[in-house]
This record gives sequence, C-alpha cells and structure tokens, in this order.
Amino acid sequence: MHVTVLGAGAGGGLPQWNCGCANCSDARSGKIPPMTQSSVGVSLDGTDWVVLNASPDIRDQLARTPEFHPRALRDTPIHTVVLTNGDIDHVAGLLTLREKTAFRVAATAETAGVIEANPVFGVLDRALVSFDTIRLETPFEAAGLTILPFAVPGKIPLYLEAEGIADDSEALRAMGEQTIGLRITDGTTTAYYIPGCAEVPDWLVDRLSDADLLLFDGTVWENDEMTRTGTGRKTGARMGHVPMSGAEGSIARLAGLSATKVFIHINNTNPVLQPDGPERAIARDAGWTVAGDGTRFTP
Ligand code: MLT
Ligand code: MN
Ligand code: ZN
Repeated sequence: MHVTVLGAGAGGGLPQWNCGCANCSDARSGKIPPMTQSSVGVSLDGTDWVVLNASPDIRDQLARTPEFHPRALRDTPIHTVVLTNGDIDHVAGLLTLREKTAFRVAATAETAGVIEANPVFGVLDRALVSFDTIRLETPFEAAGLTILPFAVPGKIPLYLEAEGIADDSEALRAMGEQTIGLRITDGTTTAYYIPGCAEVPDWLVDRLSDADLLLFDGTVWENDEMTRTGTGRKTGARMGHVPMSGAEGSIARLAGLSATKVFIHINNTNPVLQPDGPERAIARDAGWTVAGDGTRFTP
C-alpha cells in the first residue's frame, strides 16, 4: 500500500492567513515547514489513487505531487474521493475538481446530504462525478483497496452548529455518520485514517489493534491550547478533537498499539510542530511521527 500525505495541517493550514502565532510566524520565515490542509492519498499500486478528504489546497497538493499528475490529455489518477466529515477543510476541494473529468465521491448519507444541500457543489457534473453513499460498518471497494467506514466520537460541521453549545455537550462527541474513521486494507496491510476524533474510548483502542499504520487526529497538544496561545477561546473538546497530551489524550490512550503511529490534521497552534521543542520529543519518545506535507509511507 502506498500512502502520501497531501496536507498534514488542520483547517487553516500553516501559516493560517490571519495568524501571527509563533508557529505561523516560523512557517512564514522558513524556520519550520509550512503545511497545507488535511488530505491523504492511498493507493494499492501507486497508479490509481483514493484521496481521503478534498482540502481547499488540493490544487497545489496535486500539482506538486507527481503520482497525481494526469497521464493523458485530460485525466486524473484519482479514482475516488472519500469524505470523513463535512468540514470545510475536507470538502471545499471538491470545487477545484470540477473540470469535466470522471471520479467518484464516497460519503455517508449525512455528509453527502450536506453537500447536496449546497447548490455551489452543483458545478460537479453528475454525469461524470458520481456520489456513492457509504454505510457505517459496511466495507466498500475503491481502486483495489477495501475501505471500512466506522463512526468515531465527533460533531457536525462548524457551519451547521447551533448557537451556545456547551464545552461538555454530548453533541461534541456524538457517534454517527457525521464524523467517521476509515479502515483501509489491501488484504495484507491495514491502515487507519482518523483526522477528527473527540475522545479515545476503550472500544476504539481495541478496534485499532490490527493497524499497521495509524494516521490520527493531531489537532491540538492540549485542550486549552488556543487560550494559552491567545489565538482563540475554543477548546479542543469544543472543536471535536482529543488532545495529544494528558491522561485521556491520544498519546497515552494509544500507547499500547504496535502500529506505526502518525499525527495528521495538525493545527497551527500545536507546539508539537516545533522540531526541537519538548512536545515533539515527548511524541517521538512515545513512538509518534508528526506528518508533514509530502510524507510518504509504504505499510
Ligand atoms: C475542524 O477540524 O475542527 C474543522 O475543520 C474546523 C473548521 O471548520 O475550520
Ligand atoms: Mn478540520
Ligand atoms: Zn498560527
């Protein structure tokens, strides 16, 4: 299996257009590598590709990644785009993929419904771009890979939220079609892709035990990171993202997995982005890799 990280960043990317935080400033000055927004390519043979989430940066991501270049006058190696939620950083790139070339979009009925409800996505010619509804716990085939969608704790997209959701609301870690994880296998090797996950319950730890490669939500280092960095008021919990650190964080909760563990969907505020910082050392010592744009794996 071939895995190419197209964009390792969370919504906003690194640097985020309006952010002068330490990480964003360092990315502008070339001290740390910039990151585009959340997307990963997977392929059985390195020829036909499944793109996991279509980020607003997909045009640049495809242009700079040779395995995604057209092989004919009008062509794409993209066989299927799978959506794990309806967030802007995961769906807006579909608008870039409009220029009359066939591919398939695979999404849950709930996420597909969000897209269908917005007329701007009508630019995708449905004679060429098919929308396939995927079901929780029902595997589907894409370019020779078998992909199993399953619910993980998470919330609906930001732009559909009602006012005044409390930080401890159950709705922020609901189980359903709104936020899914993907188990991807070629029959021998198994990878998991979970870019958004509000908590790591025991059942999820058990579920991931057969992973050879785990690409997991690395949005924030700690729950109150945005207040600490002065960049905002929202907690990780409020955004539907479990922190890396702490007793209930992903590093501690997933410590027992034998998989190659990789953080993706990393927010620009996350101190783990500093290569020489203490947080990076903690993650590395716990067996985690912090993905960057263009990081490749062949599990
Ligand atoms: C998230 O992952 O929390 C969302 O992408 C936030 C957003 O819509 O910017
Ligand atoms: Mn996101
Ligand atoms: Zn920033």
